[in-house]
Amino acid sequence: MDYIEIEGGVQLHGHVRIGGAKNAALPIIASLLLTTGETRLCNVPRVRDVFTFGQLLQALGANIRSDGSELVIDTSRIDRFEAPYELVKTMRASFLVLGPLLARYGKARVSLPGGCAIGARPVNFHLQGLEALGAHLELTQGYVSAYAGQLRGATITFPTPTVTGTENMLMAAVLAKGTTVIENAACEPEVVNLAEALARMGGRIIGAGSPRIAIEGVSDLEASVHDIIPDRIEAGTFLVAGAMTGGDVTVDRCRPQHLGTLLDHLRGIGAGLEVGADWVRVISVGRAQPLDIVTAPYPGFPTDMQAQMMALLTRADGRSVISETVFENRYMHAAELCRMGAKVDLEGSDAVITGVPRLHGAPVMATDLRASAGLILAGLAAEGLTTVSRVYHLDRGYEQIEVKLAALGAKIRRLP
Ligand code: EPZ
Repeated sequence: MDYIEIEGGVQLHGHVRIGGAKNAALPIIASLLLTTGETRLCNVPRVRDVFTFGQLLQALGANIRSDGSELVIDTSRIDRFEAPYELVKTMRASFLVLGPLLARYGKARVSLPGGCAIGARPVNFHLQGLEALGAHLELTQGYVSAYAGQLRGATITFPTPTVTGTENMLMAAVLAKGTTVIENAACEPEVVNLAEALARMGGRIIGAGSPRIAIEGVSDLEASVHDIIPDRIEAGTFLVAGAMTGGDVTVDRCRPQHLGTLLDHLRGIGAGLEVGADWVRVISVGRAQPLDIVTAPYPGFPTDMQAQMMALLTRADGRSVISETVFENRYMHAAELCRMGAKVDLEGSDAVITGVPRLHGAPVMATDLRASAGLILAGLAAEGLTTVSRVYHLDRGYEQIEVKLAALGAKIRRLP
């Protein structure tokens, strides 16, 4: 298993180009099951989860070829309708094939995703929504077996916003008979990117990006070409890296309008920011000020940036409190940061961080995708050598992060 070695204490300087968003690419790839023909996807990130999702679509009968950062996917011959446990357990986003397979073929057998390091992550809202649209579901041997003649439009109200739940419903409703309304829908930019792709295929969707989305079912959808939006979490990760190392970093080809709350928080800790049309520059101005953070569904502060901001706040000049309101166990990185000299006390869903003047390098272990990003950032700011093991977590959502960081001056390398 690879691990990453970092010699900390180097200020990062320069420009980094942001790739496509993993969490936009995955639902859009799933949505191609709704069409027949060949679709070209542009700005696709070359990360492990996208590769795994491509394998899943090939297992269903699709033909995929990659062409640099473009994927060409032909779904003319889908002839299998099962997402096996072996795949779903490694990538819970595989559950996103359930809605489109039901809508297009009227049947699907998808393994229930288990929990993961950050929480139990049930899919009950997905199942309730599909039943509201007329699907018949049976849960047997850890699988959902789903059948539907013609899905029919309905009103679906989510108790709390769910990103992939909203995405599954969009893909099921777009071919249903009649109108569907999703209340308390997720507003994430990745949901909007999916709705844009579905509209380009011929879908009729109003209100994506707001808590109320209306979908007018159509009879079929056409393959076309889609652009994946830039990854706001990758952009945020590099901005925090620049702020933490006392550097001056510009992230290019991003969408600043998707970073609103994060930029407010970076200003809150005292970083200097310049914001352009598709770039953001962060200039560190010395030791961070402490800051209280509450994670929330978009447009609130993203839970996927919580570990990265915790790493930054471990060296702030004072006490910060992070409240993680989205997932029940997303503090696995706290203990690892403490091994580097941080002072983090967990109190239920709150993490109380007492800033220390410096971190020291140490061997640490990644537990989930964004926790590993937080540990990399801590290593960049720590004095001495840090080794991060189990970096396969990192590769799920970041494309060559160590190469991009090295290009900004970091002393970082991947070792087998
Ligand atoms: C998506 O996960 C993202 N993954 C996650 O990113 C992200 O952290 C999360 O949204 C929140 O923004 C993808 O888009 C592939 P949710 P998702 O359904 O859709 C509860 C990463 O790092 N819930 O919005 O699975 C759930 O337990 C990943 O790239 C139910 O109770 O998250 C959680 O507490 C990690 N029942 C809350 O809702 C359900 O049926 C939000 O979960 C569904 C969700």
